[in-house]
Amino acid sequence: MTLQALLGLELPIIQAPMAGVQDSRLAIAVSNAGGLGSLPCGMLSPDAMRKELAHIAAHTSRPYNVNFFCHAPPRPNAERASGWRAVLAPYYREFQLDPTVVSSTVVRAPFSTHAADVLADFKPAVVSFHFGLPSAELLARVRAGGSKVFSSATTVDEARWLEAHGVDAIIAQGFEAGGHRGTFLSNDLSTQIGTFALIPQIVRTVALPVIAAGGIADASGVAAAMALGAAGVQVGTAYLLCPEATTSAVHRAALTSEAARHTAVTNLFTGRPARGIVNRLMRELGPISAAVPDYPLAASALASLRAKAESQGSGDFSPLWSGQNASGCREIPAADLTRELASIYASR
Ligand SMILES: Cc1cc2nc3c(=O)[nH]c(=O)nc-3n(C[C@H](O)[C@H](O)[C@H](O)COP(=O)(O)O)c2cc1C
Repeated sequence: MTLQALLGLELPIIQAPMAGVQDSRLAIAVSNAGGLGSLPCGMLSPDAMRKELAHIAAHTSRPYNVNFFCHAPPRPNAERASGWRAVLAPYYREFQLDPTVVSSTVVRAPFSTHAADVLADFKPAVVSFHFGLPSAELLARVRAGGSKVFSSATTVDEARWLEAHGVDAIIAQGFEAGGHRGTFLSNDLSTQIGTFALIPQIVRTVALPVIAAGGIADASGVAAAMALGAAGVQVGTAYLLCPEATTSAVHRAALTSEAARHTAVTNLFTGRPARGIVNRLMRELGPISAAVPDYPLAASALASLRAKAESQGSGDFSPLWSGQNASGCREIPAADLTRELASIYASR
């Protein structure tokens, strides 16, 4: 079944939820253009989420997606935290920052009863999850509101697991994808495969619609994914320069520079593997380090360094999330990009 038939959409395009670089504005623009706009709630408090959802409800009557993380809450480990601070200490000295002052960062919280309470007032067409699924009880609450449930699979095993746990569609996230890997069954990065190897294998294994994600940045990429059996395509990186996104100045500059050709999967910024443009921190400490605190605790250790560097115009300590294909990043309205992405498919 196509994404259009499943949701009553005009175009088979999902704007990927991207926590930290967008709010309701991007979601509204994409939904009104005929795609599925997404609101990432992984870094929003329930109150902020309610405000954003009210804004979406006031500005579109089309389907939209609300996205959550569902990681197990971390166990704070003082020894690990201080070990990581010791690794970062030379950078703190270089920037004349006090390493003992912990900046507050936006908390990345997993899907909760509070979030389910807010969702119940809005009943979005789709609720999508990253890092697996929430408890059966919470999932039942989402379903009771009539929302379709989507989640990311990075392997055939994860797709099978999601099908067995009752999702309505699977987002096949290839290794090219920007941002966090949705992986939840294995920590072994060698299990992660490319989008165009992953889609046909998942399509053959499950009976559900499969959405392709990772490295797809133009109309021919969308058409190729559909030819491999995808029911739709979820695009993230290509939306990062749209005026409706809140992407920072250093992130925008990196995406339009030569540096964007070199990305890597790193755990340094949050504690979980995610793909971003290689910068100084990744070159000097990683990209993968065994000393990093568990997700999402690693983020706070870098917050003041990141803020100071960014105030000097540097992205050396910032997560510059990007997929392997940033060639689709242009400063064009999200509605135009959405229609362009679907153009070959739509003209068939
Ligand atoms: C900046 C950025 C932030 C992201 N944040 C989220 C998120 O909050 N939730 C989520 O499910 N996926 C997130 N992702 C992953 C996307 O859902 C998607 O898998 C990815 O963008 C597809 O690959 P592409 O970036 O090459 O298009 C993020 C991706 C990027 C680039």
